Amino acid sequence: MASYLVTGGAGFIGSTLVRRLLDQGERVRVADDFSTGRRANLTEVLGRIELLEGDLADEAVARRAAAGVDYVLHQAAIPSVPRSIEDPVTSNRANVTATLNMLVAARDAGAKRFVYASSSSAYGDSETLPKVETQPDNPISPYALTKLAGEKYAVIFHRIYGLSTVSLRYFNVFGPRQDPNSPYSGVISRFMSAAVKGRRPIVQGDGEQSRDFTFVENVVSANLLACQAEGVSGMVFNVGTGERHTLNDLLGALSTLLGRDLDPEYVAPRPGDVRHSLADIGRARQHLRYEVKVGFQEGLRRTVAWFRESAEGDGPG
Ligand code: UD1
Repeated sequence: MASYLVTGGAGFIGSTLVRRLLDQGERVRVADDFSTGRRANLTEVLGRIELLEGDLADEAVARRAAAGVDYVLHQAAIPSVPRSIEDPVTSNRANVTATLNMLVAARDAGAKRFVYASSSSAYGDSETLPKVETQPDNPISPYALTKLAGEKYAVIFHRIYGLSTVSLRYFNVFGPRQDPNSPYSGVISRFMSAAVKGRRPIVQGDGEQSRDFTFVENVVSANLLACQAEGVSGMVFNVGTGERHTLNDLLGALSTLLGRDLDPEYVAPRPGDVRHSLADIGRARQHLRYEVKVGFQEGLRRTVAWFRESAEGDGPG
């Protein structure tokens, strides 16, 4: 049994990681300040994890979090482009300061590997598709810059201090437990939430922008593979599916699954928005043995099922 720290373990991706690790019989510590993570995401697993509540931008909290763990899966962040545009200082503190503290803490605690949740936003609006890790970075929002800064720190901690770090650039992740309640929430959760409440989904722009929508279980698998892969320290990997769908396609697929037309409302495009995003996953396939296990349609089916169940119970809101 190995011990894992999942920072941001009360969040959407973090809490999915926690469940998979527990299913595999691993020892799990969660660090979260519940600023964007939700207590409800941990209710089912509370008796089986160690929970550390605190802000990782506080060095002492970061040290307590990393003490004695084998693997650090650093998911904690404020994961939103528009929120970073409104309040870049808070995003920088959560995404950069806390990451630097965690790297220092993991180095000093002698962690075997530090896996960092980076973002496809590092590619910005470069026209090249698919996005490949060798192309130049081009962050176009404070969020993208904070995520890229964390990634560069991870690379430098490998080079200078010999900490074994791996960065995973997530492409638009979706699935059960993604919080739809903030105006900053990911688009699939926003559309799902509107649909179950009988409201019209809001499309920012013409709906022809496209994303490599990645079901969360694929991201969880990539994290676990990244802990064990050899010869990957200091490397950066795309984690996506290698397929893209426009928002209009997405609305069509959801309408089919729900059995009714969602009748979206089109409004102005969002500032700082990227037009198209698509991952080249060749490097992850080669070095991490990453494969897409759950595709877009199956992922949507599972997500719709979860939103429906939640709407019948206490609901995701
Ligand atoms: C970006 C990053 C992603 C990162 C995420 C964190 C890119 C390509 N992707 O996602 O890696 O993890 O930030 O939040 O930079 N939209 C609507 N209606 C809504 C909500 C959103 O039309 O109710 C539109 C947005 O304007 C955008 C698209 O849907 O065009 C996707 O938005 P969102 O889900 O917020 O993610 P990104 O900004 O693409």
